[in-house]
Amino acid sequence: MSKRLTPDELRTLFLFESLDDDQLARLAADGEVEHRDAGTVVYAEGEPATCFFVLLEGTVAMSRRVHGDEVEVNRTEQRGVYGGATQAYIGERVSQTYLNTLRAITDSEFFVLPADVMAAAVREWFPMAIHLLEGLFFGMRATQTIVGERERLLALGSLSAGLTHELNNPAAAAVRATSTLRERVSGMRQKLAMIADGRLDGTQLHRLVELQDDAVKRAASAPKLSALATSDAEDAIADWLDDHDVTGGWDLAATLVAGGVDVEWLEHIASTVEDGDLEPALRWLCYTVDTELLMGEIEDSVTRISGLVAAAKQYSQLDRTPYQTINVHDLLDATLTMMQAKIPKGVRVVKDYDRALPSIPAYAAELNQVWTNLIDNAVGAMDGEGTLTVRTTREDGRLIVEISDTGSGIAPEIRQRIFEPFFTTKPVGEGTGLGLDISYRIVVNKHHGDIRVESQPGATTFRVYLPIDDQDAA
Ligand SMILES: Nc1ncnc2c1ncn2[C@@H]1O[C@H](COP(=O)(O)OP(=O)(O)OP(=O)(O)O)[C@@H](O)[C@H]1O
Ligand SMILES: [Mg+2]
Repeated sequence: MSKRLTPDELRTLFLFESLDDDQLARLAADGEVEHRDAGTVVYAEGEPATCFFVLLEGTVAMSRRVHGDEVEVNRTEQRGVYGGATQAYIGERVSQTYLNTLRAITDSEFFVLPADVMAAAVREWFPMAIHLLEGLFFGMRATQTIVGERERLLALGSLSAGLTHELNNPAAAAVRATSTLRERVSGMRQKLAMIADGRLDGTQLHRLVELQDDAVKRAASAPKLSALATSDAEDAIADWLDDHDVTGGWDLAATLVAGGVDVEWLEHIASTVEDGDLEPALRWLCYTVDTELLMGEIEDSVTRISGLVAAAKQYSQLDRTPYQTINVHDLLDATLTMMQAKIPKGVRVVKDYDRALPSIPAYAAELNQVWTNLIDNAVGAMDGEGTLTVRTTREDGRLIVEISDTGSGIAPEIRQRIFEPFFTTKPVGEGTGLGLDISYRIVVNKHHGDIRVESQPGATTFRVYLPIDDQDAA
């Protein structure tokens, strides 16, 4: 025997409170009370939406599948909340499947109506509301589609634009260094002829090779000098070369200083070779220093390239599962690396990380999108000069990422609106006004976190709060 509710009992549910007696009687006749045990699925996302459920008693949790993961979107014990076939009144124009999954957390009771009964009742009783709802529904769907596409484009666009730019510099540097290296090596081969001519005897040659080894070591560990110190050192060496009748001293001086060579070291060489051989010997050593520096440059460039590729991989999370346990600092570092080209020289970047923070479960690629949007806004507000601070802390079981800038600030009258989709103060073509909307949805809807902003001229801070699931992190 199925259990029913009386019209008066139905009236106590907020959804039905304004229905008249006839309407309530009809719902009471068609709907039944159903019990579900704790832990069971009431209805499952994707299955045909055949019933409309109203919670009478118990606790339920609603979840949605996002990229294959089940994400809880709501948990409640509020009597009267409803779910299931909520779009039945729209009819054939949308696929009538459950849009989410409802689970009974405790033993629960529901008032259950067949979807077609619910749809017919709503259409018949509220024809005008149906028109408005349909307008809203299809309008929202169009907006969602546009926003979703735009979102993907933004992520992809900022990633590839930033990366191309960033990769270009070290790649070009490596190519340049390699071609110079080729010239130097060929020059060195020619200088070998000098040795073959027998102008250097065995001991001299021996000594020269030792000096060469020393030059290589110096070049590898040469301290980075300031511009002023460099030009002083070059002056000193050029003078020494002049005094020793070495022509083209200036060319050699720059290389020798870069390789960490000083006047004292030159004296060594002068005492090793005959006067007439000083210049060819020095040039030979310069080639050595030069090739060493060039190889160092190539190594640096190539290391930078692999670093960037690693950052791009970390940033895009292309080879990872979307939902995983992550360290926010890795994400922040990867994002900052990817955005380097977009941050003007006049903007100082300060990182203030609390390294003791635990890893948290999160959608890594999407959080990177959040950092990107916030950093992009912060940089945009600074007009080429200022300080960008990226800070991490924790507070009451929540991890906080702060992005602060010393820019213009957000005027109080627009503070309420900045998270709205399409709200922007940037000129047409520069901002879409989606950055904060997207960020908000990622942080609040997908991570159950929060974004807050504090701003005055010269000091704006966006704080992203993310729940720390200690159990999960451990
Ligand atoms: N750090 C900030 N300082 C000052 N104003 C800000 C800051 N961050 C956001 N805003 C304001 O909020 C508005 C909305 O930001 P949002 O990121 O949503 O869009 P947008 O930056 O204008 O465009 P998009 O991010 O799509 O390129 C901005 O136009 C700007 O007026
Ligand atoms: Mg923005």
